[in-house]
Amino acid sequence: MAFNKVAIIGGTGLTQLDGPDITGSYELTTDLGQPSGPVQEGRWSERDVLFLARHGHPHAVPPHKINYRANLLALQQLGADAIIAVNAVGGIHHAMQSGVISVPHQVVDYTWGRESTYFDGEFRPLDHIDLSYPYDEELRQSLIRAAAAIQLPVCEFGVYGATQGPRLETVAEISRMEKDGCDLVGMTGMPEAALARELGIPYASICLVVNPAAGKSEGLITMDEIRAVISEGMQKVRDLLAETLKSL
Ligand code: HPA
Repeated sequence: MAFNKVAIIGGTGLTQLDGPDITGSYELTTDLGQPSGPVQEGRWSERDVLFLARHGHPHAVPPHKINYRANLLALQQLGADAIIAVNAVGGIHHAMQSGVISVPHQVVDYTWGRESTYFDGEFRPLDHIDLSYPYDEELRQSLIRAAAAIQLPVCEFGVYGATQGPRLETVAEISRMEKDGCDLVGMTGMPEAALARELGIPYASICLVVNPAAGKSEGLITMDEIRAVISEGMQKVRDLLAETLKSL
């Protein structure tokens, strides 16, 4: 399937698009409230793209307070027919060291109290969507092929555990998540993936591991350590996005 307008949802460390020529910026209000910030429109790798900073710009909206429903509705209103999400995550599996990029294939949702469906009986009548495979396989494979084309090593699989935040996890929580099969831990992967499916928009994620999860390294987790990994890693994520957009 060819995608006409790809939306990128940027996470921590990717709050603005530097690559593309910006052609517009839209301050939308949706029927479910306001998105995290204006949606930028531009051209990147000769494609039309939309960009939304998930936490706003500057980074201000905490993970549990993001209006995920409005974010995705706004992107849909502007014509997004595919979404690539960028997520900074902690690494649980030993292969998920700091700096590693993973294209996750599954999700376990530990979040609570978030507005996580359009089919709530108010906005839309109750419905139950299939989420067996939360990420779009065609988009995932496009990301994996693009990474190979630029010789960027990526993990082709990963189970993303979505936690509530904004605090990081305890060692026991990470140990439980590991037993549950989680390879990565982040705070924003859900309900985003589920809402994209409810809207019928193919969705995949690029996860950058920015720290070993709680108990997976000797010391405590510091924001300084995370910031250092982010600044280097997000350049790789940008390169991957640029190459992926060429091929979609
Ligand atoms: N836990 C949850 N979310 C995160 C982490 C983490 O260790 N690192 C970056 N986002």
